[in-house]
Amino acid sequence: MPTSILSSGCFATRVLILTPADFGVLTFLVSVLVVAVIFRRIVSLVIIACVFIICCGSIYILKVCKEGKRGEVEEKIKPSGLADEEKDSTVEIPALPMRFSYEELRTATRHFEEKLGSGGFGSVFKGTLEDGTLVAVKRLEKLSQNMKEFLAEVRTIGSIHHFNLVKLIGYCKDKSYRLLVYEFVANGSLDKWIFYQDRNNCLKWQIRKNIAIDIAKGLAYLHEECYKKIIHLDIKPQNILLDENFNAKVSDFGLSKLMDRDKSQVVTTMRGTPGYMAPEWRLSKITEKVDVYSFGIVLLEIICRRRNFDGRSETSSHLLRLLQSKSKNNKLLHIVRNFDEDMKNNAEEVERMIKIAAWCLQDDHTRRPCMSTLVNVLEGVMEVDSNMISFNFKNALADHHVLHINDDPSPSPLDFVLSNPR
Ligand SMILES: Nc1ncnc2c1ncn2[C@@H]1O[C@H](COP(=O)(O)OP(=O)(O)O)[C@@H](O)[C@H]1O
Ligand SMILES: [Mg+2]
Repeated sequence: MPTSILSSGCFATRVLILTPADFGVLTFLVSVLVVAVIFRRIVSLVIIACVFIICCGSIYILKVCKEGKRGEVEEKIKPSGLADEEKDSTVEIPALPMRFSYEELRTATRHFEEKLGSGGFGSVFKGTLEDGTLVAVKRLEKLSQNMKEFLAEVRTIGSIHHFNLVKLIGYCKDKSYRLLVYEFVANGSLDKWIFYQDRNNCLKWQIRKNIAIDIAKGLAYLHEECYKKIIHLDIKPQNILLDENFNAKVSDFGLSKLMDRDKSQVVTTMRGTPGYMAPEWRLSKITEKVDVYSFGIVLLEIICRRRNFDGRSETSSHLLRLLQSKSKNNKLLHIVRNFDEDMKNNAEEVERMIKIAAWCLQDDHTRRPCMSTLVNVLEGVMEVDSNMISFNFKNALADHHVLHINDDPSPSPLDFVLSNPR
């Protein structure tokens, strides 16, 4: 007879259940039996009875074997869970970046068809992985020069994870090809949203303020929560990405530098983007406070929706110079060119933010706040320390000229690595 095994708790009970197929076979046999009885053929009757018994027996045995095997398989898969996975060296750990072949990435990007953007070190293309994940594939150009940047980026971002840092999914190191595979961040880089948007289409103050807080959180994690301090060294709107909900993610770790926690400063080759580089770069001895300076410039640009330096007219477009002069007659809000209704409604908060930006831009790096303090101040949990803020940016404005001597967008790894200001 057909049987199935039902388990409940520790007990297993055997019950008889007929499936529609079994029922069909039985009906057929019973009909044959009836026909035989009608014709009173004793021999046929006996044969049919035997066939009937054999059929029922076979069905029973087959079902019991099948259930038994399934049980064994389930036993193998279920109970040990992680222990079994640990034994299997092929199981992938999603937290680590994957290695791709050049062919895989060429297919994923449909032969590098859709360009998302480009910077000083390469071009970035949209792609789709086999499992449907949308990605941004950065193809490093000028390969021999960029090996350092490639390794810096894989090592740095490949081992850390934070909501406000772009996620590195994988990389490719095939022959001379060097590519990096990131999560695709739908709204692209911040510069497009603060510098190029028309007035009706620009981001509202609250969204811009949240973006500033997100960047500060990403940097606080890099500076204060990782095993080694990570100094980004190229904070600018082009390296801040916005997702579909305008959450900001710090990206592009090509110039980043690791620093031992017990060291207070590092000596390194000058690197960064003109207009965002702290004055202490002149001495080549830097601390994580160079990122705080760059953040201060980005914050000013977010507030004013215009560039600190656009490379054309220095005096009119240099926000820092403007901030210094407007502070003298207490007209900080005058640095904001398009002071629309939204800004008017948030005037007090905007002025407070300008002061926070000025705090980040202090010539003396020890007077600049650390990133976790900035997160608290931006969120309104802590007060701005007005005693620490001077609006005299003498060194920064003097160095502005020095840091533009080599304004060549092509990076040189020798003594000066400049990213493309665009
Ligand atoms: N993950 C991403 N999602 C969407 N767009 C991206 C992504 N990464 C980069 N981009 C676009 O490509 C541009 C250049 O990328 P970036 O990593 O800064 O390269 P580079 O090292 O050459 O400066 C960015 O400014 C942005 O517009
Ligand atoms: Mg970049």
